[in-house]
Amino acid sequence: MDRRLMKWAMVSLTLVQTIQALDNGLARTPPMGWLDWERFRCNVDCVNDPDNCISEKLFMQMADIIVAEGYKDVGYEYVCIDDCWLAESRDEHGRLMADPERFPSGIKALADYMHTRGLKLGIYEDFGQTTCDKYPGSEFFLQQDAQTFADWGVDLLKLDACNLNAADNDYGFPIMSFYLNQTGRPILFSCDWAVYQYYDNMSIDYAAVAKYCNIWRNYHDMQDSWDSVMNTVEYFGTNQGGFQQHVGPGSFSDPDMLIVGDFGLSYDQQRVHMGMWAMLAAPLIMSNDLRHIDPKSKALLQNRRVLAINQDPLGHPATRVTPQGFNSQTLSLWTKPLIKPQGSFAVAIVNKDIQGTPTRFSIRLADLNLSNNSGYNLTEVFDGLAMGVYSISKPINISVNPTGIVLFQAVPV
Ligand SMILES: *[C@@H]1O[C@H](CO)[C@@H](O)[C@H](O)[C@H]1NC(C)=O
Ligand SMILES: *[C@@H]1O[C@H](CO)[C@@H](O)[C@H](O)[C@H]1NC(C)=O
Ligand SMILES: *[C@@H]1O[C@H](CO)[C@@H](O)[C@H](O)[C@H]1NC(C)=O
Ligand SMILES: *[C@@H]1O[C@H](CO)[C@@H](O)[C@H](O)[C@H]1NC(C)=O
Ligand SMILES: *[C@@H]1O[C@H](CO)[C@@H](O)[C@H](O)[C@H]1NC(C)=O
Ligand SMILES: *[C@@H]1O[C@H](CO)[C@@H](O)[C@H](O)[C@H]1NC(C)=O
Repeated sequence: MDRRLMKWAMVSLTLVQTIQALDNGLARTPPMGWLDWERFRCNVDCVNDPDNCISEKLFMQMADIIVAEGYKDVGYEYVCIDDCWLAESRDEHGRLMADPERFPSGIKALADYMHTRGLKLGIYEDFGQTTCDKYPGSEFFLQQDAQTFADWGVDLLKLDACNLNAADNDYGFPIMSFYLNQTGRPILFSCDWAVYQYYDNMSIDYAAVAKYCNIWRNYHDMQDSWDSVMNTVEYFGTNQGGFQQHVGPGSFSDPDMLIVGDFGLSYDQQRVHMGMWAMLAAPLIMSNDLRHIDPKSKALLQNRRVLAINQDPLGHPATRVTPQGFNSQTLSLWTKPLIKPQGSFAVAIVNKDIQGTPTRFSIRLADLNLSNNSGYNLTEVFDGLAMGVYSISKPINISVNPTGIVLFQAVPV
């Protein structure tokens, strides 16, 4: 680490130590919104591809659809900009500038645009010298940039950590968290802190991550594929380093964007993706083209019963359960305790088998560690179908499609 940066970091850290926890009132349930990255990447070619390039027009169009087509009504709120929004250099006062061709009105105007529609604006920076795509980073400018974002009326900051030594994340993110707090504007803090340490096989201080960040990435970026979804789900099931223990209101681990409505997943696979992100208490940040989306994908993204599981105020993520004697290479079982209603659970059964026929088996609620002796009333979640009342010892017959999911809610009777 640079000497100058080190000295300055030590000074700042003494200030940070006075904060007990990230307590900005935000992300009491997993945040919901839209982010351009997975679907639109660093497309800056507005000459040849004006409808898909990273420009203010793209974010305004998405915001309009979020409001007009029911997404806002079910909770999607943050419209977020990822990398490649910046001009190639700072202005003469060292302030960040948006690319003047692609964001001619500026970020403040874009934030106003969101606010007048009841939405929020998210932005992106990197704590290194440059962003992943080589735009100006926040190194040596953290305080000024925090203030710039606050002045613009930004509501969320995704801070990346490209072009850095991942060990430096342990001081950089707390410092930015502190500077965001000092602006006085509540800004949801999304941290790419743990993920780079995971890449480097470092042991990760999740307690610190959760203390300074509202949402935090810890595994690979989502790509447009089933493998990407399943590898992520497996990682969260394995819970390496116990990161899920640090999840709760104000602090959610982030398995990355939703790709429901994109190119890579079958309908059943989209249900697995949506259902499992709900189960994991994951931020629901779509990255898709809302202008061109299959009605079934749209209905999935807006399914209020699925969203209610994600947004349950207890904020507890699902854990993978392995009942005694249950040995399956392809099925995984998950339970998520809910507070609405009190004592209830969401249960997911995921089948990663690719043989072209549903897998049938039976399971008892007791096997899933549901213990209320009065029994539970079960409702299938995607379609809201009553399954009936089950004692904890009565077998439930399950049929789960290849690369599919069964999701039900169990309410004590
Ligand atoms: C700053 O931190 C204090 C103490 O944790 C908290 O009460 C306050 O709400 C925070 N303010 C903002 C704007 O994040
Ligand atoms: C991390 O560990 C994996 C598996 O052992 C290895 O392939 C990879 O090279 C390691 N990465 C770093 C940055 O050390
Ligand atoms: C089942 O519940 C008990 C008591 O609540 C708990 O100690 C145990 O860890 C749970 N087992 C699993 C597999 O979740
Ligand atoms: C069980 O849930 C269904 C909805 O799935 C509801 O119609 C029914 O009244 C409930 N039954 C009991 C006994 O709570
Ligand atoms: C479950 O399957 C078993 C055996 O196939 C059958 O006897 C039982 O009636 C089924 N239970 C329900 C609730 O459908
Ligand atoms: C079982 O559920 C009922 C209905 O919600 C509740 O009154 C009771 O306290 C629960 N029992 C246990 C042991 O949790």
